[in-house]
Amino acid sequence: MWGGRFASGPSAALAALSKSTQFDWRLAPHDVRASMAHARVLHSAGLLTDEQLARMLEVLQGIHDDVVSGALQPADDDEDVHGALERVLLERAGADLGGRLRAGRSRNDQIATLLRMHLRTEAGAIRAQLLELVEVLAATAQAHPTAAMPGRTHLQHAQPVLLAHHLLAHAWALLRDVERFRDWDARAALSPYGSGALAGSSLGLDPEAVAAELGFAGSVPNSIDGTASRDVAAEFAFVAAMVGVDLSRLAEEVVLWATKEFGFVALDDAFSTGSSIMPQKKNPDIAELARGKAGRLIGDLTGLLATLKALPLAYNRDLQEDKEPVFDAADTLLLLLPAFTGMVATLRFDTARLAELAPQGFSLATDVADHLVRLGVPFRDAHEAAGAAVRRCEELGCELDELPDADLAAIHAKLGEDPAGVRAVLTVEGSIASRDARGGTAPARVAEQLAELRAAATAL
Ligand code: ARG
Repeated sequence: MWGGRFASGPSAALAALSKSTQFDWRLAPHDVRASMAHARVLHSAGLLTDEQLARMLEVLQGIHDDVVSGALQPADDDEDVHGALERVLLERAGADLGGRLRAGRSRNDQIATLLRMHLRTEAGAIRAQLLELVEVLAATAQAHPTAAMPGRTHLQHAQPVLLAHHLLAHAWALLRDVERFRDWDARAALSPYGSGALAGSSLGLDPEAVAAELGFAGSVPNSIDGTASRDVAAEFAFVAAMVGVDLSRLAEEVVLWATKEFGFVALDDAFSTGSSIMPQKKNPDIAELARGKAGRLIGDLTGLLATLKALPLAYNRDLQEDKEPVFDAADTLLLLLPAFTGMVATLRFDTARLAELAPQGFSLATDVADHLVRLGVPFRDAHEAAGAAVRRCEELGCELDELPDADLAAIHAKLGEDPAGVRAVLTVEGSIASRDARGGTAPARVAEQLAELRAAATAL
């Protein structure tokens, strides 16, 4: 590819270091498609005759088919995907015709373009899988329209919430990740092809025509930026890491929920694993792998950012290190998501246990305070009174709705006036139903929220 200036070939050690076909070959179909588009602009610029173009496209199509079928593989001494494909083109089209394709382009604009093409396809596949998971969460929420559970802050019982509300909280976070991939695509949808090595296209070639043929919305406005920037890759890695983090939060809950102590869920046999020594075990391996792979996805992002930091413009060979992190991020999610979604879809919730636990830990104390506020008591005083009620319950070893009338009266006059009134608000159902503003956990609001989520998902 660059022999003219050199008296000798590269040392074996350099060739081994330089080589990237072991990971960049997956870009080969995109590279061939881009070559076809490039051949057409060479033709439009008068640099290929009609016959040359026709023959070039025929050979490229054959190469494309052989790449896709797997019949064509890079040779041991091919440096990268571009070099390998050029070698094959020269073999099949002959040096005179094959040697014309490289005019007006560089591996620098090629690789920047192919990476975008590839990541756009991967992002589409990840988005589709994420939407399936969102729908599984929505369907599970829908299947449990009134089931209550202990809502937590600091992992301590806080206030009762609907199980559906909790599940939809995860769904919204994942839906934003889908949105992030969509928004990212607007920036990924510009083609760097035609930027050349860095300075732009010569020979009258039209970058916009190539961009359109390759499914881009347009071409990059700056050839230096087009070849040297990788923020598109870093942003992809960020969104993938964010997905990993969001999955890991649900994963951690599944791990906890499946313990004997929580007992909230049972895992399906097909989506859990056993132990080689302990016959009784049923382990949440999918959730644990999700948690673990979040670390890997974060590593992909931080590794890539570290590669990019302080790189002078324009292309530097460091940029060859851009591919493995984003390939790994996409591969990881595409491997993880089907298993994760299957696990979530087959969770069996013990709604009786969830309901039993929902009021425990004095999770209705806020309702006592809210009750007093409705009776005209300042919240500050109401909070004090509810806190005193909890303290008294702890002394007596009882629940809030079991506090004797005399204790209620001693804690606050308003509680003494109408002990039945306060006991009436001390139900999980009442507490949940009372949180009926937009975004709240009241069943009617959660039903609306479910519809809103599905509409938002459909619009993506
Ligand atoms: N394999 C290279 C990469 O992945 C392609 C670009 C090579 N450009 C160069 N000037 N050596 O970045």
